[in-house]
Amino acid sequence: MKILIIGLGYAGNRYRRTFEHIAASTGLPLSLAYVGRRQKTTELPYFDSVNQALQRFAPDIVVVSVNDHSHAPVLKQLAGYRGFVICEKPLVTPKDDLAAISAALSQVSGFALDLVERYSDASRQLREWVERHGWQLVRASFHWGKDRINDYRPTCGVTSEVIHALDLLGWICPRAGQLQLQGVLGVRSDFSISGSEVLDSVLLTGSMGEARVTGYASFVNMVRQRTVDFSFVDRDARLIHARLVFDTPRWDHDQLRIWTRGPDGAEELLHEYATAPDEPGLDTLHKLSRLCLQVVRAVALKEPPRHAFADLDTAVALQRLLNELDTHAQTPPAARYVHGETRVLLAEDSDLESLG
Ligand SMILES: NC(=O)c1ccc[n+]([C@@H]2O[C@H](COP(=O)([O-])OP(=O)(O)OC[C@H]3O[C@@H](n4cnc5c(N)ncnc54)[C@H](OP(=O)(O)O)[C@@H]3O)[C@@H](O)[C@H]2O)c1
Repeated sequence: MKILIIGLGYAGNRYRRTFEHIAASTGLPLSLAYVGRRQKTTELPYFDSVNQALQRFAPDIVVVSVNDHSHAPVLKQLAGYRGFVICEKPLVTPKDDLAAISAALSQVSGFALDLVERYSDASRQLREWVERHGWQLVRASFHWGKDRINDYRPTCGVTSEVIHALDLLGWICPRAGQLQLQGVLGVRSDFSISGSEVLDSVLLTGSMGEARVTGYASFVNMVRQRTVDFSFVDRDARLIHARLVFDTPRWDHDQLRIWTRGPDGAEELLHEYATAPDEPGLDTLHKLSRLCLQVVRAVALKEPPRHAFADLDTAVALQRLLNELDTHAQTPPAARYVHGETRVLLAEDSDLESLG
């Protein structure tokens, strides 16, 4: 099976390592090649254009892991491609034409947006508890941030980060209904090399049916901090609370806690789960490798994935929400991080934990 990675940077190399691990651990013959604007110091076959790569390499799977601003132009170059596309989140930036992207991808055999927190055992377990017990969502709240202030990589801003939390709300509570935004506040700044007024944080309120949602996401959070809290009501009108914590203290280390309060107010723990996977070769790649393995098996063996992939309709619906956040965020004058002559940037070979 042939896999083409378009954009062999930080994310692209994560896919390379993941597919190499899958090939070694399953024995499935996988061959990799990449497209880039310039050749990198790797022995993988290189193509300088998407078209050439599609014709000469004829990949079964294409991974789109270019920077956010290049997603739309690259996805359009895939027009007519009939294989499987894995696309890094977010689908595109708020400035791009969504109809053109849907048209370009109309013939693909499959599509998965990389919403990697779906592949956490903690989120999967909560999803199953909600479904099994018929819990009705009353309230959800998230805090989702990391520090990208000194990052050398371009970004379209915090829409690229808040997408994880927004997706988890709908994925864990599919019966609650689509999130409708009510209010959005934000801050723009020069935190990124991508501009002087890039949206670095958003604070939102909204509704999913009768449930109310609050959330905060930021690319200027001093530390990685990823929590989603839920309150449900069960069939006996009892309030149930659940908290998901992701990638703490290290990438892929996730926790779930579900509890209620008895008639006397005492806490009753219903479920607790923590995972700290450490399979050799999969450092920071445990969740990504589950997504990639399911794609490889879907393509090679026509095996349905354990849970449906985040397909193109899901990706487009999420993108509409992100676009709304970006256009409607009420923001004060932009904040300024760069006061000296030069911007301090992390080195490209910084450790995976600080970049991730
Ligand atoms: N799911 C996650 O948790 C996660 C984590 C990190 C990143 N991401 C996503 O992954 C994407 C890439 O981010 P990154 O952190 O990997 O950035 P990065 O390290 O800057 O890598 C991006 C790569 O894409 C290449 N590229 C850009 N435009 C291109 C084009 N038009 N054609 C071919 N190659 C092109 C760049 O090449 P040059 O060297 O020529 O610039 C670079 O090698 C972003 O969309 C980001 O949001 C997702």
